[in-house]
Amino acid sequence: MTTKDNRPNAIDVRHLTVSYHARAALLDVSVSIERDQLVGVIGPNGAGKSTFIKAVLGFVKPDIGTVQINGMNVQKVKGQVAYVPQRGSVDWDFPITVKEVALMGRYQKIPWYTSPGKKDRQAAMEALDMVRMTEFADRQIGELSGGQQQRVFLARALSQGSEILLLDEPFAGVDAATERAILEVLGRAKESGKTLVVVHHDLATAAEYFDKLLLIKQRLYAYGTPEMVLQEELLSKVYEGRLRIFSDLVKKGAS
Ligand SMILES: Nc1ncnc2c1ncn2[C@@H]1O[C@H](COP(=O)(O)OP(=O)(O)OP(=O)(O)O)[C@@H](O)[C@H]1O
Ligand SMILES: [Mg+2]
Repeated sequence: MTTKDNRPNAIDVRHLTVSYHARAALLDVSVSIERDQLVGVIGPNGAGKSTFIKAVLGFVKPDIGTVQINGMNVQKVKGQVAYVPQRGSVDWDFPITVKEVALMGRYQKIPWYTSPGKKDRQAAMEALDMVRMTEFADRQIGELSGGQQQRVFLARALSQGSEILLLDEPFAGVDAATERAILEVLGRAKESGKTLVVVHHDLATAAEYFDKLLLIKQRLYAYGTPEMVLQEELLSKVYEGRLRIFSDLVKKGAS
C-alpha cells in the first residue's frame, strides 16, 4: 500500500492474528503506519502490545495476516527494523561493555568474514553520544542503572541506522530526567526522517509525546491522533473501568 507521494507506508499490517498455545494474543489487526511519525502503542497489560512489536519485527509468526515493511514482506527485510526490547526480557548480567552493546547494532551490516571496522565503531560511538552515554563506553552494561541501560539499548538501535525503530516501554522504570532525555532523542530521530513505534503505558503523557496513538487489546480499537484515540468511551471499553482519570485524559488529548 502506498501513500499520496507513491512511497510505501513504513509499516502495513493486514488481518494480523497471532496466537500462543491456541490463544489469540492479537486478532485481525489491520493498520498502516505512515513514515516520519512518532507513534505510541497503548493498551492494558497483556493486551498484545509486545506481541504486536514482535510481529512487526518478524520475530513471531502470524497464524493469519501479513506484515509489510516499506512495502516488502517482513521476512524479506529482517534486520531493517531496529528494536529496543522491554527491559525485563534482557539478561543484564551478560558480560559486555556499553561500547560493545552499541556496536551490536552494526552486526547486521558487517559481513561474516570481517570484524567491525572503523566506520562501525564510529557509528556506535555517535549513537552513544546521542543518548549522552559516551563517558560510560568502557563500563560493563550490568553495572549501570536501569535508566542508563535503557539509553545504551537505544544507542544500539540507533547505530543500526534503520529507518524504522520499535521500542517496547523505553520509559519503564526510568526517572523523569531520563524519560525527557529519551523522548528528546526520539524526537530528534523523527526529525531526521525515522519512523518510531513506541509501547507506552502512561496515558497521562501519551497525548503530549506522540503524533499518533494505536490502542490495542487483542483487537485494534483505534489508530489516529491523540484527540481521536483518547476518548472516554473507547478507553473505558479497553481498560474496563480500571481507569479513573478519563476526563483529565480527554482534556489533555483535546488540548
Ligand atoms: N511467549 C509467550 N507464550 C505464551 N503466551 C504469551 C507469550 N508472550 C505473550 N503471551 C500472552 O499473550 C498475551 C499478550 O502478551 P503481550 O506480552 O504481547 O502483552 P503486552 O500488552 O505487551 O503486556 P504488558 O503491558 O504486560 O507488557 C498475554 O495474554 C500473554 O500472557
Ligand atoms: Mg509488553
